[in-house]
Amino acid sequence: MRPEFVINPDLLRAFADVARTVFGYQAEAIAARDDKFTPAKLAQAVQKISDFYISKPSGKTPYELPGAPAAYLLYYTLLNHVRTLAVFREAQNLGFFEGIHRAIDWGSGMGAAWLALQDVAPEVLGSSLAFDRSTQALDVQRALRRIFAADAVTEKHPLTIDDRKLREFMAGGNPDKTMAVFSYSLTELDGLPDWVLDCEALAIIEPGTNQDGRRLLAIRENLIRQGYKVWAPCTHQGACPLLTHSKTDWCHDRIQWQQPDLYSAIEQHLPMKHRTLVFSYLLARKKLAPPAKMISAARLTGDQQNLKGQTRQMVCKGTEREFLSWQHRHGEPPEFARGELVQIDPAAPKKGADLRVIAGQVVRA
Ligand SMILES: C[S@@+](CC[C@H](N)C(=O)[O-])C[C@H]1O[C@@H](n2cnc3c(N)ncnc32)[C@H](O)[C@@H]1O
Repeated sequence: MRPEFVINPDLLRAFADVARTVFGYQAEAIAARDDKFTPAKLAQAVQKISDFYISKPSGKTPYELPGAPAAYLLYYTLLNHVRTLAVFREAQNLGFFEGIHRAIDWGSGMGAAWLALQDVAPEVLGSSLAFDRSTQALDVQRALRRIFAADAVTEKHPLTIDDRKLREFMAGGNPDKTMAVFSYSLTELDGLPDWVLDCEALAIIEPGTNQDGRRLLAIRENLIRQGYKVWAPCTHQGACPLLTHSKTDWCHDRIQWQQPDLYSAIEQHLPMKHRTLVFSYLLARKKLAPPAKMISAARLTGDQQNLKGQTRQMVCKGTEREFLSWQHRHGEPPEFARGELVQIDPAAPKKGADLRVIAGQVVRA
């Protein structure tokens, strides 16, 4: 099974500290009647941001709404941090970070992705640049970093709103060692900025919606045309079957996570519940090819569906839109989660879009 993702307890303490010292946030149990920020009041601000994103899917994060920065810290940044944790763990397992020691986090906001890299693959952060249009978001990120990774608030790790500093950072180091990160920020841009195509590695994490997911599939095609090799979620460099064989499907992952109390206290006042987290992502490298084992691997791109007489699950290993199908008459099917990498016995017979597999013919890669 895939792990349940848990936020580093030291980082959670940093979130709580910053929420209290910067925003005067108080847990409901100890809040005075006129305290500005309590979980219930933050939930109202979260709802306003959510309404904004729904009405303007590619609009710029509205930090200027009342209560929005505090809500962005304790709700959206926490959620995006867990999503980026999952993507960077996958990257680390695949050896994706080999030779990468510089990172640019574009639209870094309060540092969801940077903090995940610090936790999962600190070797990537030999030097880094966080770029955002919001000074307020960068100030919060700086405060979080001071507590979680004090040695990372130095001139080797600038946080800036100045586009020229970004270009200086690119020009001042080796692009072959540089990774560009976009965590829920490409959705606020028309397309990838030009400097990105100089970077050896790209990590893009986007909302797991139909619109953003399909847009990312189109970006994938374009990157492959530019010579990039996709490392994940795809195990192949061919056309994406969800884009070519369907007008509505999109590739998205789903992970289990452990909700911290800090987060649950807010969510209990909201209609939307994040028991699991959904997102779309792409890991690509310009020169370094994925490991040979990926060529024979497949990615589970659907949840298991229990149907009459069979358990079916969408799988991706090439340009065809395919499903694994375990016939119940052969016994209880094994449990696999969306997003897992597997090896499939090539002897499994194919019937239409289904690979008829039996126990032992699908194993974790
Ligand atoms: C949805 S937030 C994501 C923040 C963070 N990466 C995360 O995962 O939580 C998108 C961020 O992109 C930033 N952004 C949008 N357009 C930008 C632009 N043209 N230049 C710089 N930053 C931008 C916003 O200010 C916001 O902080």
